[in-house]
Amino acid sequence: MKSLSTLVQAVPGSPTTLMMQKGRELKAAGKDVINLAGGEPDFDTPKHIQEAGFAAIRNGDTHYPPSFGTPALLEAIAAKLARENNVHVTPDQIMVTPGGKWAIYATLAALLDPGDEVMILDPAWVSYAPMVQLNRGVPVHVALPAETNFYVTEAQLREYVTEKTKALMACSPNNPTGRVLQRDEIDAICAVAKEFDLYVLSDEIYEHILYDGHVHHSLAAEPGMAERTIIINGFSKAYAMTGWRLGWLAAPKPVAKLARTYQTQSITSAASFAMAAGVAALNGPQDCVKEMTASYTVRRNYLLDALDEIPGIESSPIEGAFYLFARFTNTDKDSLTISNVLLEEGLIASTPGIAFGKAGEGYVRFSFAERMTDLEKTVERLARIVPSL
Ligand SMILES: Cc1ncc(COP(=O)(O)O)c(C=O)c1O
Repeated sequence: MKSLSTLVQAVPGSPTTLMMQKGRELKAAGKDVINLAGGEPDFDTPKHIQEAGFAAIRNGDTHYPPSFGTPALLEAIAAKLARENNVHVTPDQIMVTPGGKWAIYATLAALLDPGDEVMILDPAWVSYAPMVQLNRGVPVHVALPAETNFYVTEAQLREYVTEKTKALMACSPNNPTGRVLQRDEIDAICAVAKEFDLYVLSDEIYEHILYDGHVHHSLAAEPGMAERTIIINGFSKAYAMTGWRLGWLAAPKPVAKLARTYQTQSITSAASFAMAAGVAALNGPQDCVKEMTASYTVRRNYLLDALDEIPGIESSPIEGAFYLFARFTNTDKDSLTISNVLLEEGLIASTPGIAFGKAGEGYVRFSFAERMTDLEKTVERLARIVPSL
């Protein structure tokens, strides 16, 4: 047989999926596994959004929809951007995708030539680097320092810019660290992007999940950034719609145009009835988003207080999203070993920090969008295991 793609063979599978799989296997074998490796709300999609999806199917909205998104959804997204983010775009700058992940992938396809470099601010979501590689680009890992809680500075960004740098990827609120970019970090990113003429992929998928008064600012709303920023967003996290596979991008016109070409020749479109549900999500009442965030806040506060009592584990401050990114301070074991020990001895499935880049070594990520009883059990088990790690 002829050999298979070297490009795809060079890309690792998602470590989060692997850990979740391990957890599922143990569960199937009858073990009381707590699965905190994933990243999805434990809520079902709010009823009024579900109903809009059912109604669309009943009304025959089961045919191929417009490839880039239905007019109603494109308009709802444009209105949301103006209302919530102070970003002003026309519907032709938007593309609806099957999940935010595909919005990132299609953006990279539109931006990159082989060998183009993309700066990734580590610790970063596990899929950024492989998606750059799959688009024949080169991921450049900007290791943000743990000592400053992964604070972004202009000086550090400059160190990694070369003449091949095409784009920078930023995520705020951040998966995995829980950080929300502050004003001077936003200024640093914008200054470097403008000076070196870089595109910026601004992943804002956790924008509504914020704690302690933290505020989300879209990078596209900053002066001089609209023409170089691609907003990535979606319905999975804010509206608990992971299974509907619905996301979107908003980009400068030339980028949106190429991303749209790419979409027509690849996955065609998101699902028709999912788009109808998306309209209900954006145009309907937003209480559900507030209620879910209030519930994450209770769980976050519980975990922060509980971990304070356990020697050997320290949580990063959690400003947004629903992850606890914890550092293990009384062991030399690497994060993969720690994650495995937690699974084998504590039946807790987590994601090792190294999965998010070298800057994440020493940390383990736990999703807390899970039942409170599971979080309580997690704390009990950590209290037993961590001191003797
Ligand atoms: C940072 C980040 N961006 C994008 C996504 C994509 O989500 P989806 O494809 O479900 O919209 C995720 C999902 O985990 C994520 O954590």
